[in-house]
Amino acid sequence: MQWWRDAVFYQVYVPSFTDSDGDGLGDLQGVRGRLGYLELLGVDALWLSPIYPSPMVDNGYDIIDHRAVDPVWGDLDAVDELVADAHAHGIRVTVDLVPNHTSDRHPWFCAALASPPGSPERARYHFRPGSGEDGEEPPNGWRSVFGGSAWTREPSSEESPGEWYLHLFSPAQPDLNWTNLEVWADLDKTLRFWLDRGVDGFRIDAAHGMCKQLDGAPASPDDDPRFDQDDVHDVHRMIRATLDHYPERVAIGAIGVRSAARFSRYVRGDELHLAVDTRLAASRFDADEVRAAIEDCLESVGSVGAAASWLLSDHDLSRPASRYGAGIVGRARARAMALVQLALPGAAYVYNGDELGLPDADLPDAARRDAVWHHGEDSRDGCRVPQPWEEDLPAYGFTTGEPWLPIPDEYAALNAAAQLEDTGSTLSLYRRALELRRLHPAFTTPAAQDPPLEWFGAPPGCLAFRRTGTTLVCALNTSSTPVALPPGDPLLVSGPLDDGMLPPDTAVWLA
Ligand code: BGC
Repeated sequence: MQWWRDAVFYQVYVPSFTDSDGDGLGDLQGVRGRLGYLELLGVDALWLSPIYPSPMVDNGYDIIDHRAVDPVWGDLDAVDELVADAHAHGIRVTVDLVPNHTSDRHPWFCAALASPPGSPERARYHFRPGSGEDGEEPPNGWRSVFGGSAWTREPSSEESPGEWYLHLFSPAQPDLNWTNLEVWADLDKTLRFWLDRGVDGFRIDAAHGMCKQLDGAPASPDDDPRFDQDDVHDVHRMIRATLDHYPERVAIGAIGVRSAARFSRYVRGDELHLAVDTRLAASRFDADEVRAAIEDCLESVGSVGAAASWLLSDHDLSRPASRYGAGIVGRARARAMALVQLALPGAAYVYNGDELGLPDADLPDAARRDAVWHHGEDSRDGCRVPQPWEEDLPAYGFTTGEPWLPIPDEYAALNAAAQLEDTGSTLSLYRRALELRRLHPAFTTPAAQDPPLEWFGAPPGCLAFRRTGTTLVCALNTSSTPVALPPGDPLLVSGPLDDGMLPPDTAVWLA
């Protein structure tokens, strides 16, 4: 059963979901305590942000041990309990997997620093002598995604000027060398470790990374030698081969590549089950841009018979309720885009807090924690602020302690408890949308169809599509005037209709 083809994955950003022990950081028991909420919301699966031992330079994406749990989140028993309880609630659990890099405090990296150039310990990473007269310049001009050079010189004594190591993200995240067989064997061990514990799959971080073209010329002028190199597909085939020993498990890659054609290579039959990127999230609130993103995504999966994946936001992106505009307008547009996202054929990802319509938090600089902020880039903290559960509790029910990021006052009114009671709330909209998606005959998933969507003619600034082989029609109005509804009975509207017309900043489902 390919349950993941149209599943709704809910991203739990563990630090900010619910804290069970008062240390101000969310944890696994906190997630477990909210399974009733998640079942009510109607999601099919969770994606948990990294829970592994980490110095938290990049909020857990810098890992010391891929087969253990950091005590701030709980322990392995807590994972087992969460997985068992989630399954009892009909919810599957996928976990983040970070194969591109480790922490600089991983035992392998510590051993590398303690070993001489050319040693097998160093061969698990990318160490190189520097360029320039005394090796004082980085080996090449590669940039880190987080800003600055992708190379850091190892700390060393004056007599032995050190080598440089590669890190495509922060210096605390040295890149593994995927030409080294030990690295492969270790990932296989990690996959089996979690699969044996019953997790339902992995969200694979930077899944277009891993293999690099460090020596030699780029394959073409638009080739980025740091990412999306041909060899990475062998890594995905290995991951898939391991998963295929376990029924109904899923590998989802977070991919950033330059074209639909390059994207499709990741979801070929023997590679990832699903791949997700930011094409839909990157389009502005503009019908033509949204349509172009949808068509591009469908093209990239359609050519290889894979299911599409739709993501509006995650822990790296500005929240839709802020990204599409300020205040009420932003929230209305975020609600409209949620209906577009959830009408599309394929899997969908909902980032925790978006179901409450949370805006980005405007944090004082002193409160910011994100590694990229310290590299002079825009901080991602604004979308990572803890979730408000109940208005009258300290920290709105997130923690009994001091939340790791301050929760803005404007989150109080957006708390989950109040929204559950309010039929007009964003939470109620999500619940209803997920319920219809699951139960309404208009959503019947037809056998694989080509193309999966039929576009209808729509007024300027609007789009309308029907899922092929079903009766579900979705229309979106990004223009500034109300427009007539397409034919059909309205099932769900993201905001009030205007005299039977679809107003600006609104989407509708019809059957
Ligand atoms: C994650 C980021 C992280 C980066 C490095 C991305 O795919 O989503 O949060 O900083 O990888 O691990």
